[in-house]
Amino acid sequence: MDKEKLISVAMDARDCAYVPYSNFKVGAALLTKGGKVYSGCNIESASYTPTCCAERVAFLKAVSENEKDFEAIAVVGGYDNKDRDYCYPCGVCRQVMMEFCNPSTFKVIVAKNNRDFKEHLLNEILPFGFGPSDL
Ligand code: THU
Repeated sequence: MDKEKLISVAMDARDCAYVPYSNFKVGAALLTKGGKVYSGCNIESASYTPTCCAERVAFLKAVSENEKDFEAIAVVGGYDNKDRDYCYPCGVCRQVMMEFCNPSTFKVIVAKNNRDFKEHLLNEILPFGFGPSDL
């Protein structure tokens, strides 16, 4: 799947965000090496801490269906009434990526839309990460 299409899936997932507390809507689309895509949106909670980011929802959906080999994730986030900026994954989500992905090959695509995006390797946004191979 090309990056533009992956970003479009993330943009559609963003529409499902449940964000009554922040109004900050995030969508993610996680591409497996086999070509399947798992989407996610952020889901907030009145007690705040159970809030789950869009990226982690996508990973949890995929891993719960026995997917373990990932190629890339696209992330789109922001407020509806503001110009869209690139939305980078939070530290917790970067750590979850580190659990399941090779940091020197897994691609993190942050997008304003499917024509304006930046692409990083996980090890650029999580340098010196701690992961399964360290134990
Ligand atoms: N959020 C995500 O879903 N992904 C990110 O990469 C950054 C933050 C969510 C969590 C919360 O629902 C809202 O954005 C504001 O922090």
